[in-house]
Amino acid sequence: MSEKKAAGGLQGVVAGQSAISTVGVGGIGLNYRGYDINDLAYKCNFEEVTYLLLKGHLPNQQQLDELRTLISQKRQIPCKLKQILETLPKESHPMDIMRTVASLVGILEPETKPGQEYEISIRLISLFGPALLYWYHYSNSGIKINENTGKDSIAENFLKLYHLKSEIDPLVVKTFDVSLILYAEHDFAASTFAARVTVSTLSDFYSGITTAIGTLRGPLHGGANEAAMQYLEPLRSIQQADQFLNSRYQSKQLIMGFGHRVYKKEDPRSPIIKDFSLQLSKTANGDPTLLAVSQHIEKRMIEEKKIYPNLDFYSASAYKQCGVPTPMFTAIFVISRMTGWGGHLIEQRSNNKLMRPVSDYTGPAKKQFVPIEMRNKANL
Ligand code: SDX
Repeated sequence: MSEKKAAGGLQGVVAGQSAISTVGVGGIGLNYRGYDINDLAYKCNFEEVTYLLLKGHLPNQQQLDELRTLISQKRQIPCKLKQILETLPKESHPMDIMRTVASLVGILEPETKPGQEYEISIRLISLFGPALLYWYHYSNSGIKINENTGKDSIAENFLKLYHLKSEIDPLVVKTFDVSLILYAEHDFAASTFAARVTVSTLSDFYSGITTAIGTLRGPLHGGANEAAMQYLEPLRSIQQADQFLNSRYQSKQLIMGFGHRVYKKEDPRSPIIKDFSLQLSKTANGDPTLLAVSQHIEKRMIEEKKIYPNLDFYSASAYKQCGVPTPMFTAIFVISRMTGWGGHLIEQRSNNKLMRPVSDYTGPAKKQFVPIEMRNKANL
């Protein structure tokens, strides 16, 4: 019997060491490899942060240029993968497509020797978006997109392939890029921890990533951005927002996009994505009503429940105004968090120990065995 009672959901349990990011640690907020999230979001691009999380330091110009070239090469979709994507129904959920792509790439391009983690991470970060959008356009309209858009960033490539346009509003690209930076890493979040458990058994890298995608899918975790957009979509006035909130309070249902296991006050990422979502709302394609409703819900939740928005809440309105369909929101989270997952799997493997906690046993005391002929309802 373990002395220490396990907290529900491992709340507050220190489950290992990591040098990758701080999440609310000792009031120093969110830092990736020591760099403050505000500096990274406002002064970097997602490719620099990708390099930082996977290599452990920010790239110089030459290293960044080499990474951009590598990404443009690694977004090429293998023919066999295209053939399989063409068979998947348009009703599939994008998260199931992402999980399937990770598994298929693991079969087509298996991990064959130690030290391939960086290469595989960049391959998946580069390929996930194009593969998802290849399936999306083929299954919806029979179009076979050309995934190559030159040295475009991950953000611009995704938006061009989704909108099938050669020009994207720079503020939309910047907002998307910032969202990828904000979603990139968050310590032992459920999906990251699950991935580390998987590779701690010496399982392969792709199995770790497939575990992570399946874990992220849930609405208590990565799926919250989709869930938030689903309830925000129909709310076109403050009055409708109040009716929604009051009914949720009444039924004691969760309001997705709010609250956090670690941040019990503000999620430091939320004001950054909110800033960009507000900027978008002031443009020709923006949705000021969506932002007014979102801010009203935020105000009431903070004042009445002392519960703050997490990154997912304003990511919903930001992605909506980028023109991205709601079912793709969490898939974008996968593209981004592939950087954090890669960094964590490299770290786990560098000092591995099989992860195998114990439970607090609450079952029956030892029993006398009963042969089947003696068994009936009375004595079981
Ligand atoms: C992400 O871990 C990470 O780092 C994750 C993430 C990352 O970058 O990887 O940050 C990404 O997953 C963000 C979280 C996205 N999930 C949601 O938005 C789903 C809604 N949020 C809740 O499910 C909840 O806030 C959790 C699960 C996120 C955290 O909850 P805890 O720490 O388990 O706290 P709790 O559920 O015990 O809540 C404490 C109280 C409860 O009320 P009482 O039972 O005490 O009366 O606060 C209430 C909860 O009901 N509460 C909410 C609420 N969140 C907490 N009530 C309404 N709506 C909410 N969203």
